Amino acid sequence: EKGGFDHFMLKEIYEQPKAYRDTMRGRIDESGSKVIFPELNLTEEKIRSINNIHIVACGTAYHAGLVGGTAIERLVRIPVAFDVASEYRYRSPLITPETLVIVVSQSGETADTLAALREAHANGAHVLAITNVVGSSIARDADDVIATLAGPEIAVASTKAYTSQLIAFYLFGLYLAEVRGTQTAEEISHIIAAMQSLPEQVEAMLENTDAIKAYAEHISNHNNLFFIGRGVDYAVALEGSLKLKEISYIHSEAYAAGELKHGTLALIEDGIPVIALATQEALLEKTVSNIKEVKARGAEVMALSHEEHVSSLLKSVDQAFAIPKTLPLLTPALSVVPLQLLAYYASLARGNDVDKPRNLAKSVTVE
Ligand code: F6R
Repeated sequence: EKGGFDHFMLKEIYEQPKAYRDTMRGRIDESGSKVIFPELNLTEEKIRSINNIHIVACGTAYHAGLVGGTAIERLVRIPVAFDVASEYRYRSPLITPETLVIVVSQSGETADTLAALREAHANGAHVLAITNVVGSSIARDADDVIATLAGPEIAVASTKAYTSQLIAFYLFGLYLAEVRGTQTAEEISHIIAAMQSLPEQVEAMLENTDAIKAYAEHISNHNNLFFIGRGVDYAVALEGSLKLKEISYIHSEAYAAGELKHGTLALIEDGIPVIALATQEALLEKTVSNIKEVKARGAEVMALSHEEHVSSLLKSVDQAFAIPKTLPLLTPALSVVPLQLLAYYASLARGNDVDKPRNLAKSVTVE
């Protein structure tokens, strides 16, 4: 049942190229220049009337929402707000019939996310669910469903569901951009082409994982570490940190790279590992400054970037890993993969039950 893998989590990490392809299949027209969503009830008129978007989810699904909402805001120029579902109702969010509420849930059964959906409905919003389980409570209650086609996810730590949620968000963002005319046909084709290369790029990353495994074994001897990044790298840092905590039980914090000096820098001491995501070229120089801040306090820094920046980064970091080249907005669909492997191998090195971490359940049906 684990298809030759030692754990479901590793199997599911390796299933990601297929999950990306399956989630894209049938949603891109034959010419590769347009996204189509035959399953949506959302009319073009309705799409044009939306004036704000709320993205609501828990845990890893929330982290996918951070990336997805950033993509939508950039592609469509509609303001996007993000909430963890357990907080949403209690801040009296401003929901109107012109609000599109997107709930994200692998299982479709998360109690807080379902309650957020009901709150959105009570205020007249249209609710779109991005879920991996089409017969779930959330799918049933939502006005529209985009199914992620990741296949069943068994490991408690979510991997292929997260990355399929990213794909679903990118597709939906492009679809909104088409309808609202906020991106040209050329821009849309260009992004679609880059998306279609993602599965092969993930395959390439999964071919040789020895270096990340060795690094995971190294950090498994530590009890504290940091992830830093800017822009979507920060969103991926949050996900990398959650994954590591969840299954390795190593304490880590994810910080927006520029925010460290507002207090957290005090925790950087000699030898502490810092994982710096540096995939966003426009932000690279600033991220490097933040890397230097932690290096100066004795941190041992691993950077994740693209091949062409590795040699210059190595002047300021101890180790660097390269991810394949894609468009800046799409990097999370690649950069999260080494972080999933890092969490997996660190958990394994510590002798933990990788697929069933302590205190956690796959589906959280209590608030
Ligand atoms: C972490 C993880 C959780 C879930 C969260 C929401 O690896 O899996 O953080 O993402 O409990 O679950 P769903 O997506 O089923 O609503």
